[in-house]
Amino acid sequence: MALYSEKVMDHFRNPRNVGVLEDANGIGEVGNAKCGDIMKMYLKIEDDIIQDVKFETFGCGSAIASSSMATELIKGKPVSEAMQLTNKAVAEALDGLPAHKIHCSVLAEEAIRSALEDYHKRMDS
Ligand code: FES
Repeated sequence: MALYSEKVMDHFRNPRNVGVLEDANGIGEVGNAKCGDIMKMYLKIEDDIIQDVKFETFGCGSAIASSSMATELIKGKPVSEAMQLTNKAVAEALDGLPAHKIHCSVLAEEAIRSALEDYHKRMDS
């Protein structure tokens, strides 16, 4: 069996929503100290809906595929739903990741959560 699913390869080769969102109102950046990979998420939220999302990932193929899939999973969704996104859901949507690459999907969950926290902070101030 191939180590990586077709979906992982597809999102790695053709990542969706790559780049910077100039008018983002929620930005989150996280990293994994062990592998050194970094993920940055930009959210544009209006009326409590994720209108747009982009990411920049400096990391492995699984991290790129996970960020790409995570952006697809939350785009157009309410903030409350995006808050619930788990790394498990990201990995499942990619038809699985090898055990030693699960932490790459955790990074995607953390990056989105961090961007949502930033959004809430901005709303409060
Ligand atoms: Fe660390 Fe993939 S190897 S995020």
